[in-house]
Amino acid sequence: MQNGKYYIFTYGCQMNVHESEKLAGLLEERGYKKADKPEDADVLVYNTCCIREGAEQRAIGNIGNAKPIKKKNPNLIVAVCGCMTQQNGVAENLKKKFPFINIVFGANNVEFFGEYLDMFLKQRKYQRNILDEKTYQSSTKSIQMIRDDPYSAYVNITYGCNNFCTYCIVPYVRGREISRPAEEIYAEVKELINVGKYKIITLLGQNVNSYGNDLKDNKTTFPELLETIANFDGDFELRFMSSHPKDLSDELIDVIARNEKISKAIHLPVQSGSDKILKLMNRNYTREKYLGIIQKMKQKIKGLSLSTDIIVGFAQETEEDFEDTVSLLKEVQFSNAYIFMYSKRKGTVAEKMEGHLPIEVKRERIHKLLEIQKEITNNHFNSLIGTIQERVLIDGETQTLYLGKTQCGKVVKIKKEKELQLGQFVKVKITDYSGGNLYGEVQ
Ligand code: SAH
Ligand code: SF4
Ligand code: F3S
Repeated sequence: MQNGKYYIFTYGCQMNVHESEKLAGLLEERGYKKADKPEDADVLVYNTCCIREGAEQRAIGNIGNAKPIKKKNPNLIVAVCGCMTQQNGVAENLKKKFPFINIVFGANNVEFFGEYLDMFLKQRKYQRNILDEKTYQSSTKSIQMIRDDPYSAYVNITYGCNNFCTYCIVPYVRGREISRPAEEIYAEVKELINVGKYKIITLLGQNVNSYGNDLKDNKTTFPELLETIANFDGDFELRFMSSHPKDLSDELIDVIARNEKISKAIHLPVQSGSDKILKLMNRNYTREKYLGIIQKMKQKIKGLSLSTDIIVGFAQETEEDFEDTVSLLKEVQFSNAYIFMYSKRKGTVAEKMEGHLPIEVKRERIHKLLEIQKEITNNHFNSLIGTIQERVLIDGETQTLYLGKTQCGKVVKIKKEKELQLGQFVKVKITDYSGGNLYGEVQ
């Protein structure tokens, strides 16, 4: 058993956040405790992301910051993992640039970090282990995770991605899609419910709607999986991400609509409002199909709150194509949109396309779109004034206020009038929206 401390830097999506919970579990199993800051750590882990250039640069900059820490503490162990290291030659380049790195492994074998660490402690030799695909052993290894959030828990349902959107690096670094057997997912969710404190359970996959396509026996579809879990006893809310519009079925919409425990906050990335760009992106749906799904959801799902992802400045995007995205945002009125500037990724199909845009054009477009969405978001939250939010999770407090979260993750400030428990769902009437916060009263 070790008696040192660890600190984990996490970049990227929820998948990585969840994998860092596994890394923390493996470290604590070996006796390490969480450090408050990197300077206090004996093991530093960098769980990286490579979705855009900016994400890579942030990680590289921070790994560089380990140098002075290592100088002060020569026994410091530095480990780098995640999507960035899965790319060809990156592990080698990192080791050259930062010779103090001791362990490198990939996103596909996070579950084996413990073994690599043990090996390093035994041999005191550089360890490098990267797998191109997640293996059965890795995907089924059971780990006592150290979950980050006291009330909300992630559960993997698929790993990898088969979609090959032309801009995206994920299928190259995470490999082909693997679905976890339904029974394994049910067991993990039941265990979480039994713990009692987890009120939000989020199912994770790159494209949850294609869950089960690769399962040979006992084929379960995503709507079936979702409804089975929604019928489990217990006071919890069920969420999932991300959905791909090409695989979103009517059956799924019905399941969301008829099950009270399933969150009505749906994240459905559209990426662009232009058919030409959607085709170049290999998204496999048209603007019309996307808007058709949105219309159906709005008709059937009471209390729906929609969010999306957008890429601006993709190769060959004209002013007209961009205006199609603007008009789509205005038409749908998402409560929130995550807007990104297209970033060229090595080895993807889009990298070799003609017609890449200058950075100035991309910047201009992202600023414009962010402004437009800001107004839509403000309108959305203003329109909630006077409504009753059925399930607000109380997850923090100050001296005078309780802090709650709506289904779509928006903070609601509630005056302390009657006593509430942290980790409790309450019904809240929204009374105001100002300074980016909702205010409400418990009903
Ligand atoms: N599998 C999920 C999430 C993918 S990554 C999904 O398909 O929804 C999250 C978001 O990052 C994507 O939805 C996309 O909007 C954005 N993204 C991915 N690759 C990008 C790139 N090369 N440049 C800019 N944004 C990108
Ligand atoms: Fe990337 Fe597309 Fe897969 Fe999402 S669905 S991870 S955007 S390739
Ligand atoms: Fe990044 Fe990998 Fe997620 S590239 S967005 S951490 S799947």
